[in-house]
Amino acid sequence: MTDDGSSSITNLALNENYHSTRGAIGESLHVYIEKGLNYLKERGGMNKSVKILEIGFGTGLNAILSMDWASKSSQKVAYTTIEPIPLEEPLYAQLQFKNWQENTQKIHQSPWQIPFELSPFFSLTKIKTTLESYSNPDSIFDLIYFDAFSPSKQPGIWQIQTLANCFRWLVPNGVLVTYCAQGQFKRNLKELGFVVEVLQGAMGKWEMVRGTKPSNKI
Ligand SMILES: C[S@@+](CC[C@H](N)C(=O)[O-])C[C@H]1O[C@@H](n2cnc3c(N)ncnc32)[C@H](O)[C@@H]1O
Repeated sequence: MTDDGSSSITNLALNENYHSTRGAIGESLHVYIEKGLNYLKERGGMNKSVKILEIGFGTGLNAILSMDWASKSSQKVAYTTIEPIPLEEPLYAQLQFKNWQENTQKIHQSPWQIPFELSPFFSLTKIKTTLESYSNPDSIFDLIYFDAFSPSKQPGIWQIQTLANCFRWLVPNGVLVTYCAQGQFKRNLKELGFVVEVLQGAMGKWEMVRGTKPSNKI
């Protein structure tokens, strides 16, 4: 249980938490909903259906909060998420996400590998794979939630080759958000052509990062 009363999980092999111990919901709302989805909406020009890719489905919390955002905003969201090690039922059944209990179970029980309409505003596609082996056509996602384990625990996933794929999969003006603000990661983003913003982090964390693919890049 994290400090804001929402659950998280610890990967014991890596000794790594899925969220800030100060608040799983608080962190997810700040980094992904506020600095990602709300930012896109406020910036204007949002597509009829916003296409999101999440790296690391885990507890499903980012999907749960995005589904809530979609219905409150009456904005269609097509959400794709990748995860190599889905949680099993005894574990996800114990997750406590305040007002979102029913949707937590729905999201975990929905099928893998195919798009599934969870509500009139939210379709979910869960793919069991790693980022390293995932492939996609170019220029399709408006927003990427990069929510992998930290670079110190999972360095491979933050390298320029995997980030280059994310860059290609974003539409021009598309945005990547993450809780991470490691120096080498920011340099990798800049080298690829992202416009990098360092924003205030969540739950007392100093910094987080938002990268935008320039409008003239395909
Ligand atoms: C920091 S946790 C965050 C999970 C999730 N977004 C949440 O809110 O619970 C990182 C997630 O990335 C997954 N993961 C591990 N290796 C991965 C890989 N190579 N590609 C994609 N996801 C990976 C982990 O299993 C874990 O669920």
